[in-house]
Amino acid sequence: DVVTLTEKTGTKDSRSSFTGSFGYVMATAASAVGLGNIWRFPYLAARYGGGIFLIVYLVLVVTFGHAMLMSETALGRMTRKSPVGAFQSFGNSLPLRFGGWINAIIPMLIVPYYAFIGGWIIKYLYEYFAGNTVALAGDNYFTDFITSFSSAEICFIIFTVLTFLVVLLGVGNGVEKASKVLMPILILLAIVIVVYTIAQPGALEGVRYFLIPNFRKFSWMTLVAAMGQMFYSLSIAMGVLYTYGSYLKKDGDIEKTSRLVEGFDTGVSMLAGLMIIPAVFAFSGGSEDSIQSGPFLMFVTIPKVFENMGLVDIPGIVFFLMVLFAALTSSISMMESGVSTFMDQTGWSRGKCSVLMGMIMLLLGTACALGYSVWSSVQPLGMSILDLFDFLTNSILMPIAALSTCLLIIKKAGIRTVVEEIRSSSRFRSQRTYTFLYGTYPPSYCL
Ligand code: PHE
Repeated sequence: DVVTLTEKTGTKDSRSSFTGSFGYVMATAASAVGLGNIWRFPYLAARYGGGIFLIVYLVLVVTFGHAMLMSETALGRMTRKSPVGAFQSFGNSLPLRFGGWINAIIPMLIVPYYAFIGGWIIKYLYEYFAGNTVALAGDNYFTDFITSFSSAEICFIIFTVLTFLVVLLGVGNGVEKASKVLMPILILLAIVIVVYTIAQPGALEGVRYFLIPNFRKFSWMTLVAAMGQMFYSLSIAMGVLYTYGSYLKKDGDIEKTSRLVEGFDTGVSMLAGLMIIPAVFAFSGGSEDSIQSGPFLMFVTIPKVFENMGLVDIPGIVFFLMVLFAALTSSISMMESGVSTFMDQTGWSRGKCSVLMGMIMLLLGTACALGYSVWSSVQPLGMSILDLFDFLTNSILMPIAALSTCLLIIKKAGIRTVVEEIRSSSRFRSQRTYTFLYGTYPPSYCL
């Protein structure tokens, strides 16, 4: 019984909340839209078959992605707790505590290196504003910058302080307000860049490459890549959706808001694909090899493209401003999730918990910075410290966290309870698919 569960967990209505559905959608979409959309999605689509990757990805988003997004949000709203408390609302056994903490720890481990990368964006933006477009396009600029501890560290600290200030302001005044302002600007900037790039000679070749299915590149890896991207991009299995769900008012339409978030996130990924792949085709000779993964695409290839455009600093400023907003709002959501967990578990104030989370970020982020400079010989599992965090969270912890949520629903909460939570405030249009996906639920209930 949802009501008794809420009472049992001692939930008070004093918990901060989003002012309405629009605020929730904006904040959740802001969490979802991040570096994953801009530097990971275009590269994966290019590598795994263009249109065919897009189709697989879309199908996964509207089925599994949709179900997981709704589940985590509903569990958060039902228990009014961030992940640890949400899991413990169903008992205090070891597996439940483990499931809660694993969901809670992931954003705390991602946000330090995410903020470290955020610092790179600040550096590039600064250089574009200073008119150093040509220097940024230089072959060694990026490597020189990340291996110089002091400047990378200063930029990282600036990014961390920005995130900290928004989280310190709280849910309604900080997270929600920032998302409501930054997200629409981001979309606008993205559209401007897409229109501009597609209009360049040679760009249409890239559009074709991105959209037309290339079956020669289709393999089971397409599926694996699309699945991983879906989790990362929608911020699933990272505690964030539990936390944001717990701030959602009881009358919010979980299904509709989730669909909007999926639409937003996928829309921005598509826009990113339509700006990056055609840009690389138009300005870098259009070879497939120039579409590289991750940092190199964004911090090496793209600056070269901008330099070739010959428009001095404007495209660089517009592009990196967009990337900064995307990264900042994602980083805010992760830090908020950590702070919320500390607040729930210790009963301390937001201020104290934000400082604690800020210290964790500074400590682990600095380790990443050192990993590129004085500690560069420290190569745990043969990778840099940043890559280690990325590998640990994405490849090991996230699948376990996703599985924990599925088990929580099937074994402890009961699919029926989650379905009821969603239905308590709105119609549940995809209920049959939802119960089908979670398997064990008796289909008769849907009839
Ligand atoms: N979804 C974000 C992106 O696409 C990343 C993120 C990870 C956000 C974890 C929140 C939590 O970049």
